[in-house]
Amino acid sequence: MNKIKKKIEKLHEENNLEWYYKYHILVVEKIADDLNKEFGGDTKIIKLSALLHDIGKVFNKEPHNIEGAKIAEDFLEKEGIQKEVIKHVSECVKSHNCFDIIPKTIEAKIISTADALSHFNSPLFFAEFLFENKEKDFGKLIEIYQKTIEKDYKKKIQFDKIKKKYFPEYKLFKKMFLIES
Ligand SMILES: [Fe+2]
Ligand SMILES: [Fe+2]
Repeated sequence: MNKIKKKIEKLHEENNLEWYYKYHILVVEKIADDLNKEFGGDTKIIKLSALLHDIGKVFNKEPHNIEGAKIAEDFLEKEGIQKEVIKHVSECVKSHNCFDIIPKTIEAKIISTADALSHFNSPLFFAEFLFENKEKDFGKLIEIYQKTIEKDYKKKIQFDKIKKKYFPEYKLFKKMFLIES
């Protein structure tokens, strides 16, 4: 696993995304690991999915969930990972943003939730968002970010218990980003 993790880190570095790896991917990995302890899923599937969930972004492929799942499948096949594990990881990558595919397995629910929570843990994510979207008009950016907060909380968090726990953060972010109730 450590060898695979190093390779994924290197892929980010080669594409000038070491900052994304450090401040987003590793954050999601840690949150997913904590959720796994609470809700119980397959550790290997969760770790690989957390590390690979945004791999489509690394290669600038859109939609990054669908294209990323293909890249993850190829990568894991070359690493000799079992077919069954690859299938599960691919599902997690496809459904991590709840865009067109809804998470069904416990592992996929954990990844989607961890990705959402990474946004609520720190204002750093907004800085990342600004950095990633430098070319956009500021007003438009705030609008998109407001939608992201709503989607993260209402759609991507898959466990009621976690929703309740993060309600104060959600309220704070709504206040900070002037979201009307
Ligand atoms: Fe993503
Ligand atoms: Fe992500």
